[in-house]
Amino acid sequence: MLSNLKQQPADKILQLVQMYRDDPRSDKIDLGVGVYKNAEGVTPVMRAIKAAEKQLWETETTKSYTGLAGEPAYQDAMISLVLDASVARENVAAAATPGGTGAVRQALELIQMASPDATIWISNPTWPNHPSIIKYLGMKMREYRYFDSDSRGVDFEGMLADLAQVPAGDVVLLHGCCHNPTGANLTNAQWAEVIAVLQETGAIPFIDIAYQGFGDGLEEDAAGVRMVASEMPQTLIAASCSKNFGIYRERTGILMVVTQDASLRDVTQGNLAFLNRQNYSFPPDHGARLVTMILDDEALRADWSAELEEVRLGMLALREQLANELQKLAGSDRFAFLAQHRGMFSRLGATPEQVETLRRDHGIYMVGDSRLNIAGLNKNSVPILAKAIIDVGI
Ligand code: LMR
Repeated sequence: MLSNLKQQPADKILQLVQMYRDDPRSDKIDLGVGVYKNAEGVTPVMRAIKAAEKQLWETETTKSYTGLAGEPAYQDAMISLVLDASVARENVAAAATPGGTGAVRQALELIQMASPDATIWISNPTWPNHPSIIKYLGMKMREYRYFDSDSRGVDFEGMLADLAQVPAGDVVLLHGCCHNPTGANLTNAQWAEVIAVLQETGAIPFIDIAYQGFGDGLEEDAAGVRMVASEMPQTLIAASCSKNFGIYRERTGILMVVTQDASLRDVTQGNLAFLNRQNYSFPPDHGARLVTMILDDEALRADWSAELEEVRLGMLALREQLANELQKLAGSDRFAFLAQHRGMFSRLGATPEQVETLRRDHGIYMVGDSRLNIAGLNKNSVPILAKAIIDVGI
C-alpha cells in the first residue's frame, strides 16, 4: 500500500524555515514564515496570555470534552471581535477549529457539501495553502486579478472586471485585511464596490482574516468583513487567533457562517458540528479558552489590545524606516509602497534569482515570490536589508 504514495511537493514557506535553521551564518536574517518577532528576534508570549494561563491553571477543574463546535462563550467572544454588531448573533453559525487553516479547510468542506460544483475564486496571488487545500479537496478553482506588480498596489480595475465574470453560486475567497502575500489592501470604498459586484453576480464571499489588529487597528481591520457580512445574504469567515494573540502552536481559529435567513442558521450550525466530528471530533480548547478569558475580562482585554497595538506600531515603524533607507539608497520613491502596505507582509517585486542571491550572498531569507515578513526585521537589520536589496539590483 505505502509503495503507492508519491512524494508531496514541499510547502515553500515551511521549507524556508528549515533552510534558515540549517544556515550556520550568525548574521542571517529570517523574513520568511509569517510569525511575529520582536526586536530581539523572539516571538513572545503576550502578557495577557501569560496572565490568563496562570488564572486558568488555578481555576480549571476538568479537561473533559467541550462542545463539538467549541465553547459557546468562545464563539460569542470571537463573533463579537470580528463582526461586532454588524450582524445579529442569531444569524451566525460558528465552530471552533484548529487554527485559521482549520477554519479554511472546514469552510471549503462545507461548501463542497452544499454545492459540490462550485468554483472557488482565489486572488492572484494568495497564501499558497489556499490553492493547495482546494486542489487537495478536488474542488474547482480559478483566479481573479489582485496585485499590480508595477505599482505594487491592488489592481482594482482588474479585480472588479474578473469578479464581474464569476457565476452565481461560485465562491470568492477574499483576505479580510493584511493581504498575504502582497500587503496591498482594499480601502473601505473598494470593499463597497466589491460588495456591489458580488450582489450583482450572486457569488458568495468567503473571507479569510488571519491578521486582525496587524494593519490599521482591531476595528479598522475588520471593517471590510463587517460590511460584507451585513450586506451579503451569506458570508463565510475563517478567523485565526495565531497572530493577534501570538498563540500559533495552540491552533486556535473559528469558522463563522453568516446568513441573513435565520432559518438556515440552525442547519448550518448542525453541519459545522458534523464536520468537526468527522475530521477531529472536538476542536482544541486551550487557546480558545485563553482567548475567551482575555476578551471577556476588561483588564486582560485592555492589556492585550495595548500590546497588540505596540506590535502593530512597531511593524509600521519598520516599514517607514525601510522605505526611507531605500529612498536614500535608490534616490527614488520606488520603494514607497513598503510604507503604504499593511500587515506583516510586502511583496518586494524581486525576481526568483534576486531572492536566491539575497539568500546565498547575504543570508537574507524571504519567500520565492519576494514576500518579506516585516516583523522579521529590527532597527539594526533594516539598513542591512536595504543595502542588500540595492546590491542585488532590485
Ligand atoms: C505564512 O503565510 O507565513 C503564515 O500564514 C504561516 C503559514 O502557515 O504559512
